[in-house]
Amino acid sequence: MSSYIIEGGRKLEGEIEVSGSKNASLPILAATILNKGNTKLYNVPNIHDTKITQEILKYLGCKIKKNSDKIEINTKKVTKKEIPEHLMRQMRSTVILAGAILGRFNEVTFSYPGGCDIGSRPIDLHLAAFKFQKPSFLNSFSKLGVNISEDSGFITCKCDKIIGTNIDLDFPSVGATENIILASVYADGTTKITNAAMEPEIVDLAKCLNKMGAKIEGAGTNVIKITGVKKLNDVSYSVMPDRIEAGTLLCAVAITGGNVKLKNVIPEHINQILAKLEQIGCEIEIEKRNIYLKAPKKLKAVDIKTMPYPGFPTDMQSVFGAMLTIAKGNSIIIENIFENRFRYVNELKRMGAKVSVEGKIAILKGVRRLSGTTVESTDLRGGAALVIAGLAAKGTTIVRKIEYILRGYEGLDKKLNKLGAKIVVKEE
Ligand code: EPZ
Repeated sequence: MSSYIIEGGRKLEGEIEVSGSKNASLPILAATILNKGNTKLYNVPNIHDTKITQEILKYLGCKIKKNSDKIEINTKKVTKKEIPEHLMRQMRSTVILAGAILGRFNEVTFSYPGGCDIGSRPIDLHLAAFKFQKPSFLNSFSKLGVNISEDSGFITCKCDKIIGTNIDLDFPSVGATENIILASVYADGTTKITNAAMEPEIVDLAKCLNKMGAKIEGAGTNVIKITGVKKLNDVSYSVMPDRIEAGTLLCAVAITGGNVKLKNVIPEHINQILAKLEQIGCEIEIEKRNIYLKAPKKLKAVDIKTMPYPGFPTDMQSVFGAMLTIAKGNSIIIENIFENRFRYVNELKRMGAKVSVEGKIAILKGVRRLSGTTVESTDLRGGAALVIAGLAAKGTTIVRKIEYILRGYEGLDKKLNKLGAKIVVKEE
């Protein structure tokens, strides 16, 4: 495991470009399976999670050619229909490949997913949605289904043909929405998802699939319609910028009292984050795909409540938590999406933060300054929060187990050092 050694107290300033979105790249990499040909993708971040996904694509039989900014994926020779357990265990979001493999072959086998431990994250919504069964005049629900069988930790989904249906999600699950879209691209008829997730990554997936020739309407709203088509075509597609990396970089500058020009962002993707940054005292200016932020000398306390998009994103909760530990006043954070996303708090307390957690609520009492010490990443976004805290802490902070952070941030240390941070990687 490796560590970041962070020298605290340095003001961050300058300009930095945001990388492509991890959470748009993963479903879009999966979507290439549906095109029985060649797909060229640009702006895919070079991070652990996209590398693992490409490993699985190669295992399935895809030919992948990569150069500096392009990934070319040829799926003509894909024959396998199962996601290998050892790769599935490394990353929960590999479950997104299930919908694409099912959509192409009407069959897929996978094991229960692994990934960050930020909550139970059952995949019941995904599986429930796969219940495509032949419509029958007797079956008033016209629910369609795939036969789903489980055997010693493996799940196999099989059907003769996927036939469009209406699916109402109990929870606007991002992964379930994406899996249903991928599984329905070649279905007979139309699938309508109600209470669909509205995240920008779903819009990006739909834009990419529609460019290939799919027929998806309503992405970005809570009702999405997918009309089955016969064939997709070869396309080139550039993945959207990463809105969570954008928010993380803005918070890194804000906690150090600095200023930054953030380039290649889609401002409307981070409205909620920008609103909260203004509430804590930052001056924000938007100019097309650039965002200028100037931080105050002292941050003000604010309350945060995570919600499905377009609400405040759960993936920004820990990073804001780190910032609020040294804001003036008391802040309340309510985490409504994942039941175990405060694991980073104990590590912040080792740096002198005053935080108490009760269930899904955290109360933060602002302290004058944190002190550098050795802390341990607990998950991807929790690890990012510790880096943010270390930037402003007195003295040196060692953030261990940065492998969690490398899952979702492309060269976070290099980006922050470009803005004036002093972060060194130590291999352990
Ligand atoms: C996606 O995860 C993102 N991951 C997460 O980002 C993000 O936090 C989450 O959406 C919410 O925005 C990727 O896109 C790869 P969900 P996903 O299905 O699809 C419950 C990051 O840090 N739920 O919307 O797993 C679940 O327990 C990651 O980049 C069910 O109850 O999120 C959770 O509490 C972390 N049953 C909530 O919904 C289900 O079948 C959100 O899950 C599925 C989900």
